[in-house]
Amino acid sequence: MIHARSGARTGLLSLIDELVLALLNEESGYFRQVPGWNLNCAVVGAALAELSLMSRIDTDMDSLILLDATATGDRALDPALEEIAAEPVQHNAQYWIERLAPQAESIIDMTLDRLVDLRILHHHDGDFWSLAGAAWRMELHQGSEEGTAVEHVKTRISRAIFNNEIPDPRDIIIICLIDTCDVLRLIFELDEEAEERVRAILKMDLIGRAIAAAVAQNIAGRLFGPTALAKPIPVVPLRRLLRSKQIRSGNLPAFFAELHQEFGPVFEIRPPVAQNMICLAGPDTNQWVHRQGRMHLRARDYLEDFEKVYGGVGLLPALDGADHFRYRKFIQPAYSRTRVEDRLDEFLSRARHDMAAWSVGETRHAVGMCRKLVNAAMSPLFVGIDSQDIVDDMHKFKDRALKTHVGRTLPKFMLKTPAMRRRAKQIDEVMDRVLNVHTPAQRVGCPRDLADELLTMHNNDQQFLPESNLRFVLSAPLIASMYVGDQLSFAAFAMVSQPEFYDRIRAEADSVFAAGDPDGETLTGPSTDVTRRFIMECLRLYPIVPLSVRNVMNACEVEGYQLPEGRRVFIAQTATHYMADLFPDPFRFDIDRYAEPRKEHVGTGYSPYGLGTHTCLGARLTEMYLATNLLLMAHYFMFEIAPKNYKLRISPFPSMSPNKKLKFRISERRRDLPA
Ligand code: HEM
Repeated sequence: MIHARSGARTGLLSLIDELVLALLNEESGYFRQVPGWNLNCAVVGAALAELSLMSRIDTDMDSLILLDATATGDRALDPALEEIAAEPVQHNAQYWIERLAPQAESIIDMTLDRLVDLRILHHHDGDFWSLAGAAWRMELHQGSEEGTAVEHVKTRISRAIFNNEIPDPRDIIIICLIDTCDVLRLIFELDEEAEERVRAILKMDLIGRAIAAAVAQNIAGRLFGPTALAKPIPVVPLRRLLRSKQIRSGNLPAFFAELHQEFGPVFEIRPPVAQNMICLAGPDTNQWVHRQGRMHLRARDYLEDFEKVYGGVGLLPALDGADHFRYRKFIQPAYSRTRVEDRLDEFLSRARHDMAAWSVGETRHAVGMCRKLVNAAMSPLFVGIDSQDIVDDMHKFKDRALKTHVGRTLPKFMLKTPAMRRRAKQIDEVMDRVLNVHTPAQRVGCPRDLADELLTMHNNDQQFLPESNLRFVLSAPLIASMYVGDQLSFAAFAMVSQPEFYDRIRAEADSVFAAGDPDGETLTGPSTDVTRRFIMECLRLYPIVPLSVRNVMNACEVEGYQLPEGRRVFIAQTATHYMADLFPDPFRFDIDRYAEPRKEHVGTGYSPYGLGTHTCLGARLTEMYLATNLLLMAHYFMFEIAPKNYKLRISPFPSMSPNKKLKFRISERRRDLPA
């Protein structure tokens, strides 16, 4: 029996819940290394076993018989029961596990959601799960103990294996399923005696045995399936690339959407000067990357050279698995939107200070102007320094480093020119400035910032975050301001070039600033609804990070195509932004896509912040930076596009930004900026 405390549910967890909990690896925030198909078969096995315990079906080694088609009321079980009831011919458990395995992903999703609702699990961005605090009282033979839900499951299993206690039929089934996934030895240290005992337990229950055998047969059969059936990956002819209008305008997402339409979800591009690219595009590959990517693709390889430029190894975007989750969990609070909201006064005053230098009649480069505006608040709020004097150099250096060491669109020596060497020195300058203001004495009474979190991490575990990584991590917010600045320049262009939206955003800005400075809730609530939906549409049409790069670490099959181990893969996650079945009339600027009832952004088709485990940690605060800066621009100034006949051209590498020709002319200062 389980008694719930702190609001957790009363009554037994289902077999699926318990299997999911037993397989959760708290270190990596995901399941123990159970390859996808094994996990799917095991989850469906748990569903069938549960139906059997509920007397809806009966199963033995040879057959599976429907006993009662009455719905159970459990959303994870009823679709399977319905399918079994609708089948005129009788089949065995192995057949049903194979047939129902494709449903496993939605069963897992439902189970995870439920465990989160029950406050047993905690969900983190990037689809990681960890145990939430809810404590469970477990009634054991010698009194009661408290523990988490996972401890509860594990305690019961270990008592059956190590204390020779007679297990409950449910526990036998769980042991059978975990053993079939071959992860029992990852959870417990099994000596010979324990292994002997496991073998005995596996024979104790007929349902458990039948289901486990059926799952095992499916897993074995699967090993040989995909390779023989895999389709050849189509190669995009060079002439197709050359005649693309989208390539010429720099619109990579639209270009990849076109290729998806012609060549399908997986295709290869062989550019004349760069490495061959296997590309994934479309809703199905997005979903695959989001859910399965972590098992097959890793980030480490493509950033290896880039890390060296900054003298670091094992930086967050280049980590995988448990280290990656640990890093993200630790650093997450520093990227929360509330940290920005708590210091909104400082944010607004620094942004205004930067805008105070804009004079009526002058014309400014859009990208440079927006990067500086963003950095004016980002650098002090994240790492406690003003870096407006050197941020240009930092951006130019990072831009060149990405082109030479990641995109490889320029030869490596181009990072060693005298100008680049001089800019490289600014990284040390940033680090010195940050360290100078982060001595214990200087930080007394200051709100915690990103540098505080990083320096704590460094002091706590110098192997995990060594000094050699500090140059990069402490200067990263200045790099982030480049991304946000580029996204802001697209948004400002879209605003100024579309008078209807310009009027609506200006009206919102004037209203939220009418009674003094707004608080965080106002800036993220209904009074900025138009501005925020406008920004979402800019992120769809002009996503500054249109693709992600990975290396295949485990050969795998995606949409019927084989991705060989070791190959580099380009995930064009934003190609879906230009697909008409997800975003009707995709080239139309339409902010109502994000309102009820359309909500076209829900799901992995809308992915300006990436997919899966490396999903952007700064997404929420970025939206706040973009909205606040755009509102400030609209409130204080009127802009015109310069030159007047400018047609948007995008510089696509290393990330997307409007090209250098885009400028803004400041035609009017609408009100004085507070001193
Ligand atoms: C418009 C602005 C931004 C966009 C479009 C954006 C987009 C992205 C994307 C697509 C990724 C995933 C890259 C991959 O999968 O390889 C990413 C990762 C990341 N972003 Fe952002 N980003 C933005 C701004 C920011 C800001 C302002 C911060 C923090 C100050 C930030 C912090 C991060 C971090 C830490 C990661 C790495 C996460 C990981 O590897 O686990 N981003 N971003």
